[in-house]
Amino acid sequence: MSGDTEPGGRQGADGPGGDRDPFDTSVAHSARVHDYWLGGKDNYAADRAAGDAVIAAYPGIVKSVRANRAFLARAVHFLAAEAGIRQFLDIGTGIPAANNTHEVAQAAARDCRVVYVDYDPVVLAHARALLTSSAPGATDYIDADLRDLDTILAEAARTLDFSRPVAVMLIAVMHLIIDQDRPYEIVSRLMDAVPAGSYLALSQVASDIEAEQMAEAARRYNRLAHETQRHRTHAEVARFFDGLELVEPGLVPVQEWRPRSEVEARTRSAMWGGVGRKR
Ligand SMILES: C[S@@+](CC[C@H](N)C(=O)[O-])C[C@H]1O[C@@H](n2cnc3c(N)ncnc32)[C@H](O)[C@@H]1O
Repeated sequence: MSGDTEPGGRQGADGPGGDRDPFDTSVAHSARVHDYWLGGKDNYAADRAAGDAVIAAYPGIVKSVRANRAFLARAVHFLAAEAGIRQFLDIGTGIPAANNTHEVAQAAARDCRVVYVDYDPVVLAHARALLTSSAPGATDYIDADLRDLDTILAEAARTLDFSRPVAVMLIAVMHLIIDQDRPYEIVSRLMDAVPAGSYLALSQVASDIEAEQMAEAARRYNRLAHETQRHRTHAEVARFFDGLELVEPGLVPVQEWRPRSEVEARTRSAMWGGVGRKR
């Protein structure tokens, strides 16, 4: 949906979001800005203005978010088809786009179970598009904040068996968790909740690729958007994988993570991505 009426007709509704403030379409939100960059229609004037401000600072952003989406699909395919994972906890899901996690996972193994988590009301309004699991698999959607792990872990247990391996997916979301919200503790608590043989798939916006343009992009975005972006260096992103065994090729620009073609590998991005296994 485009324009300034609310996608899903939920303006001011409290719905499953409970007592949270109704969302404000005059301020850019990452889910909708991301949708704009991906060519979607679920964005408002404020999201497009923030999206354009970032494009003016870093014209590569559109290719970058597409490369990240392709990384998501390759990582999920690897986890389901090669690593034998059947359970996924995808936090910071975003507005449904091509190759949502359950579609890729269930194409590889029909019994995959996927729990989606996001805190954006527009993503919630589209949750039904994510709940189209084929039997014998399952999908669920949790309207929650990544910083509220008690809620996420309790509600995810409706669908996921935490005594068996789970792939925790944090794709293009950790740059929206600033340092004072303790991002490393969040990731390690999540990985403590899953057993050996589980995986972490994570990508995050880089501060040390196209450094000057990315710094200006962050300044512009942060002036206009609801969330504050915290871009991170390779070393800072690698720290999310502490204690895990990085699978080949390690933590790399997302397009270099097991690209399927020369064309994919040659795309540019300003995002680090990797997949790690809990021993
Ligand atoms: C840049 S989008 C990435 C979407 C998708 N993972 C992808 O890579 O295509 C970031 C998503 O994370 C969500 N998000 C940001 N901060 C969050 C938080 N604290 N809790 C839950 N979701 C959050 C946003 O609403 C948005 O949908």
